[in-house]
Amino acid sequence: MNKQPIGLFDSGIGGTSIWKEVVTLLPYENTIYIADSKNAPYGEKPSEKIIALAIKNTELLISKGCKLIIIACNTATTNAIDYLRKHYNIPFIGIEPAIKPAALYSKTGAIGILATKGTLSSKLFEKTAKEYTSKLNIIEQEGSGLVPLIEAGKLNAPEIIQLLETYLKPMLKFNIDHLVLGCTHYPYLIPEIKKIIGSNVNIIDSGKAVAKQTKAVLNKNNLLNTNSTAPTHLFYTNGNKTILAKFTQVNTITSF
Ligand code: DGL
Repeated sequence: MNKQPIGLFDSGIGGTSIWKEVVTLLPYENTIYIADSKNAPYGEKPSEKIIALAIKNTELLISKGCKLIIIACNTATTNAIDYLRKHYNIPFIGIEPAIKPAALYSKTGAIGILATKGTLSSKLFEKTAKEYTSKLNIIEQEGSGLVPLIEAGKLNAPEIIQLLETYLKPMLKFNIDHLVLGCTHYPYLIPEIKKIIGSNVNIIDSGKAVAKQTKAVLNKNNLLNTNSTAPTHLFYTNGNKTILAKFTQVNTITSF
């Protein structure tokens, strides 16, 4: 069982930002990554549809023998993790906008959250945000239009820069000192985001925290791969293989 791979899925290439942190922290683990790019963006879909897609990805990863699944997508986590944990007997690690650390370190008492509509409108996000709204001004912003551009590999295209300016500049008026990236696609935009928000606003993305949590859960369940042989990383996509290869530097990518 311990040699079995860790499974990850996302609506596309975004979750590779999590995959990179996981393979850095756990260099001997085998992994399987599903990029459901054909169905991106998840963030514009109703919750039932997101749950149905998460089920499909989960079953594919389980059929390939995964020992643990990382839902490398905030939208799928916030909409589907409760359902998945209830119905499948395998550990799940999820990712959701990191309000807690931003709240802990904020000095201005205002933080920004850039996430998909599907995440911001989910019950799980609403519940977490509610815990902090009494002491914190949370400026929520949907990142509509960003994911399709990132999926097309246009990381610094004028359209991206224009959208980021529209979404982020108003947040600065609220004197935010932290910006939470609530979508695993967005870390790829950090260079452009920094140009807009400057150095006084800290960017919080949870990739490293997810990797740490994965290690802890594997450890707790005696699932860590103790072999120190070179691991195998398999990538599957129902979208553009060339772009996925560019984001992962892995050239063996299979269509599904
Ligand atoms: N990468 C995703 C997330 O973290 C999904 C974005 C989308 O497909 O809309 O939310």
